[in-house]
Amino acid sequence: MSGTRPLAQAPTVPSRQAGSGSPRVLPPVPGATEHLRAHYTRHGHARYRGPALIRAVREAGLTGRGGAAFPAHVKLAAVAQARGRKVAVANGAEGEPASAKDAALLYHAPHLVLDGLQLAAEAVGAAEAFLYTDARNADRVERDLAQRADDIPVTLVVAPPRFLSGQETALASRLSGGLALPTFSFSRVSEHGVNGAPTLVQNVETLAHLALISRHGPAWFRQKGTPAEPGTTLVTVNADGRRLVTELELGTPLADVITDGAAVLIGGYHGTWLPMTTALTLTLDNQALGRHYATLGAGVLAVLPHRACGLIETARVTRYLAAESAGQCGPCLNGLPRIAVAMAELAGPRPRRGTVQAVERWAGLVTGRGACHHPDGTARLVRSALAVFGAELRRHADGRCSAATDHPVLPLPSAHALPFTDEDWQ
Ligand SMILES: Cc1cc2nc3c(=O)[nH]c(=O)nc-3n(C[C@H](O)[C@H](O)[C@H](O)COP(=O)(O)O)c2cc1C
Ligand code: SF4
Repeated sequence: MSGTRPLAQAPTVPSRQAGSGSPRVLPPVPGATEHLRAHYTRHGHARYRGPALIRAVREAGLTGRGGAAFPAHVKLAAVAQARGRKVAVANGAEGEPASAKDAALLYHAPHLVLDGLQLAAEAVGAAEAFLYTDARNADRVERDLAQRADDIPVTLVVAPPRFLSGQETALASRLSGGLALPTFSFSRVSEHGVNGAPTLVQNVETLAHLALISRHGPAWFRQKGTPAEPGTTLVTVNADGRRLVTELELGTPLADVITDGAAVLIGGYHGTWLPMTTALTLTLDNQALGRHYATLGAGVLAVLPHRACGLIETARVTRYLAAESAGQCGPCLNGLPRIAVAMAELAGPRPRRGTVQAVERWAGLVTGRGACHHPDGTARLVRSALAVFGAELRRHADGRCSAATDHPVLPLPSAHALPFTDEDWQ
């Protein structure tokens, strides 16, 4: 990794500024936190509000930064057009263990997110707003909220530290007083969300960009990024045993961010492995990544060092993802545990013949069959591992492995963090 610079105190570390200029959503001084007065001194006040803001967001081409890159103006317009009581939610659940960008943003620039939430709520006509975030950020954000005199009341709700907590139907269920588990519904949360009200759910980073568009307008937003994918984006880089958060222009060469390793996982644990030689030729945008069946997701990059085994790492994560499923639908109940056990076998010595084909078949069977995208994302990860780690599969068939250390590479919550033992592949 080039040009990274760890800083004290922050939960994560802004390490590289956006392109050649200064960062946008992160403070210009790496590691600083922008308190209310500094925030307004730097950013000023909104010029575009209400319907004009929704138009500005459309012209800016802002897409969601929570994983799906959905055009933000489409959801804003849908909720704005809905009738009755409405709700707006800033989604900072960040259940993805390899991501830290939302925590970093809430730590370093909380008022940009809170401004974005107010402005988005106002634009859609919501009477109440929620900030949904991990317990680790809650106390600080509560203090930040107390400093403000917001028109629309904001309630802070703690998201359980689970992979699925931030999925939008899980979020709506939690904010309605239920469990933070995805629910099956024929309607969108923008139609029936929190307590049945039309609900705008935007990732906290999306709202921070929206707050900047409200000040500077769409032409300014488009000064960075690519014409198809404008702006900057926060990226969490997991490499060399460290996790750094950085703000980059969309379209930045990946070679500017990562330099060495055997492979890179792009888009998090529902993402795609790419060989390092391929990744280094690509840019950080969905157009370029899409040609290799990858997406940026919520901006996670995780580098597999040469001394590690991609099959062992994928098997650990697959076991975690299978355990994290809500166990409500067939693919999660039957498919993911089988895939996890088979991946553990492939990660061990001399797996049985036919196990690769079984995983491929099950990955096909679970895709598109759940109430949420959890099975699809897990299947994508596993399939990409089988495609990229073919040489490693052959090594394992001979009873050998590339792993030179027991130390796990991809971060997992502590209950799942153990390296594999022999029992895992029995
Ligand atoms: C399994 C799963 C987990 C998700 N977790 C999060 C999350 O932690 N934070 C988040 O903002 N979006 C998460 N999402 C995406 C949300 O469902 C939703 O699309 C997003 O919050 C919308 O905001 P955006 O359009 O601004 O990205 C998740 C989606 C899935 C399928
Ligand atoms: S697909 Fe899996 S994670 Fe999604 S709702 Fe069904 S059981 Fe839960």
